[in-house]
Amino acid sequence: MIYHQIKTLELELSSSCNSACPVCPRYVEHDGGIYDNPMADLNQHMTAEQIANILEFPTYRDVNIDCIGTVGDPMANKNIVDIIRAIVEAKPWCKLQLHTNGSLRNTKVFAQLAELMPVGSQRKIVFSVDGLRDTNHFYRVGVAWDRIMDNASTFISQGGNASWKWVKFNHNLHQIEDAKRIARRLGFQSFYTTNNQSPDELVDRHIVDGKPQHRIMRRPPTSADGYEDDETAPTDLPNVKILPQCEQGQYVHVRADGLVFPCCMTAAQAYNPSKWARDDVEVLMQMGNSNWNSLKHRSFTDIMYDPQWAQVKANYESNKPCVTCVEGCGEDMAINPPDHIGKLKSSKSSILDSLLC
Ligand SMILES: C[S@@+](CC[C@H](N)C(=O)[O-])C[C@H]1O[C@@H](n2cnc3c(N)ncnc32)[C@H](O)[C@@H]1O
Ligand code: SF4
Ligand code: SF4
Repeated sequence: MIYHQIKTLELELSSSCNSACPVCPRYVEHDGGIYDNPMADLNQHMTAEQIANILEFPTYRDVNIDCIGTVGDPMANKNIVDIIRAIVEAKPWCKLQLHTNGSLRNTKVFAQLAELMPVGSQRKIVFSVDGLRDTNHFYRVGVAWDRIMDNASTFISQGGNASWKWVKFNHNLHQIEDAKRIARRLGFQSFYTTNNQSPDELVDRHIVDGKPQHRIMRRPPTSADGYEDDETAPTDLPNVKILPQCEQGQYVHVRADGLVFPCCMTAAQAYNPSKWARDDVEVLMQMGNSNWNSLKHRSFTDIMYDPQWAQVKANYESNKPCVTCVEGCGEDMAINPPDHIGKLKSSKSSILDSLLC
């Protein structure tokens, strides 16, 4: 058994999104185009009933609940207000964060959310905005600046607790001080920067002289496009001790399609277009043909108490743990762990570079 009382719960409320951020795991790059990830169902949405069911499992009183996901934006869920209300009613002392590009839904929805996530509470919306009017769309492709500003201003003016998150890219470093001033003027409670988790050159080649270089295909690639899985599995992994963030941090991640994973690294890896990476997680989670970790087939409590977790634990404690665990939780490797677990980040490039969680 791994779980007894959840400390950090990540909810991918939706796998849908209006933006085409070039290195988001929602997409794959192929032949100059940005295609939909062929391994993810990009139109899944969690329900308020599923959330209520999840929150029946024991949690810490001040459990961290992060509405974040790996391939979608929580504001793409049309029941977002009901869902946030269900969370606040079930866990009034939780630390709740909702990460969004800020442009989905409308000011009416943001005004309703402001009531549920007011300044002074432990609940907030994190607006992922990595540029100003002239640069945000370089990475957040297709996101309209005026919509972000309307939604954020309404949320703030109605008393909402707003934070501005700025991922640092080469094209936005010169604007950070201006952005801080604008954030203060608009009434954001905080402004913070984080490093780009993907190698900079992967982002830079999409924007040349301020112009996007890629075509947004809005469909998965096919073999007719010349697309195939040509990645090979790493062979020279060190035999490292795993410090399991799932077990030690009582951390669990639920995907928009209802599948429960121990962490965002494994959840995103199971969407990976490369077969070896999916197989790696498949072995860890023993998914096979069974639906043991699917909320569409069982209650969350039944899933959390399933003996299958003993197999997951046996895998990461073995002398041949899965690659995702080696890179995500291997002692001394500390590569791109989720922010809330608080391990040190490294600039080293790894298979987890594009997982964004
Ligand atoms: C995949 S997004 C999903 C949530 C939402 N759609 C958003 O973008 O905020 C999860 C987190 O990854 C962050 N993110 C997106 N691209 C990133 C990058 N290249 N490097 C680091 N973090 C990134 C987002 O800002 C967000 O906090
Ligand atoms: S990073 Fe967030 S906003 Fe950008 S495409 Fe991915 S889910 Fe959408
Ligand atoms: S990478 Fe492995 S050990 Fe780390 S949190 Fe995920 S499942 Fe647990």
